[in-house]
Amino acid sequence: MKDYFKFYGAVYLFFIIAIVVMGTMYISDLPNVTKEKIGGFPVVAKDTTTDSTGQVADLPMVKGTLSPPTEIMKYASATPEMIEKGKSLYTMNCASCHGDQGKGDGVAGASLNPKPRNFHDLNGWTNGPSLTMMYKTLQEGITSRGMASYANLPPEDRLNMIMYIRTFLPDYPPITQVQLDSLDQTYSLTKGVKMPNQIPVKLAMEKMMQQNVSLDQKVATMVKQNGENKTDSGAVILKGVTSNLTKALTVLALDSSWIQNEMALIKIFDNNPVQNGFRARASYTLTKAQLTQLHAYLRKLFGVV
Ligand code: HEC
Repeated sequence: MKDYFKFYGAVYLFFIIAIVVMGTMYISDLPNVTKEKIGGFPVVAKDTTTDSTGQVADLPMVKGTLSPPTEIMKYASATPEMIEKGKSLYTMNCASCHGDQGKGDGVAGASLNPKPRNFHDLNGWTNGPSLTMMYKTLQEGITSRGMASYANLPPEDRLNMIMYIRTFLPDYPPITQVQLDSLDQTYSLTKGVKMPNQIPVKLAMEKMMQQNVSLDQKVATMVKQNGENKTDSGAVILKGVTSNLTKALTVLALDSSWIQNEMALIKIFDNNPVQNGFRARASYTLTKAQLTQLHAYLRKLFGVV
């Protein structure tokens, strides 16, 4: 009987130690667990930079620029210079998936389904192998199928890569004047394109938090102002229709549609009443004249001129 307890005591001890050890291993791995989650965020599909540990790093800061006007018409035929530039850009950005020789057999694409496009076969393309369709693919991506957007690269870079891809096979559809004109119009190439600012995700989150702080401050100031406007009939009406003034003013600050007209304001009242800080049936308790007064008062409170 004694041995029996000794044996099971040892077994329990073993499990307790095992749980503690596994718990410690899990906790020490937590930073990776969370990083992997961020890495799994769909946005990362394109142009990810990895840090020394192979983890996905944050986006670099890129100042928005006016991309210089692109002489789209010169792409009526490829020059050796375009092809050479396109090749080095392709090797840097695309070969990992599409393969050095464009056969769709790059290592990074091996596990993708569907497979990266084989540029030696013109059948079964999603957008299509014409100049305009390839440009569209690089502009918008086919993200649901694993092909990212390369809109962050200047139009010339993208066009040069297309010129290079077209060298893989002699029977790519010919480039026509109509195609060039349509690209020019659709993407404003001759005029130049504004490239958006790109800021690191972390910074964007901080900015958002700051904006929330200033929203809270703005609302707090308005609540205070409203308290001071005791004799203003607009302030009295506002008090009558709200159950939580701070909430109500926050809702109004986030949805500025009400500024246009009184009906839009009523819509906000009735959208999720009580939750939104307005009293239930607030809109029914107001006369037309009161609504007009309230609308004008709110515009004043929000500094709309
Ligand atoms: C992460 C892997 C990956 C990278 C990197 C990548 N692609 Fe792709 N690409 C794909 C996949 C997957 C498809 C197949 C999408 C489909 O079948 O709809 C594809 C399809 C395409 C297509 C054909 C679209 C169609 O109409 O079917 C073109 C053109 C293309 N990629 C160009 C490029 C160029 C140029 C680059 C480099 C700037 C690049 N890709 C980088 C994965 C990648």
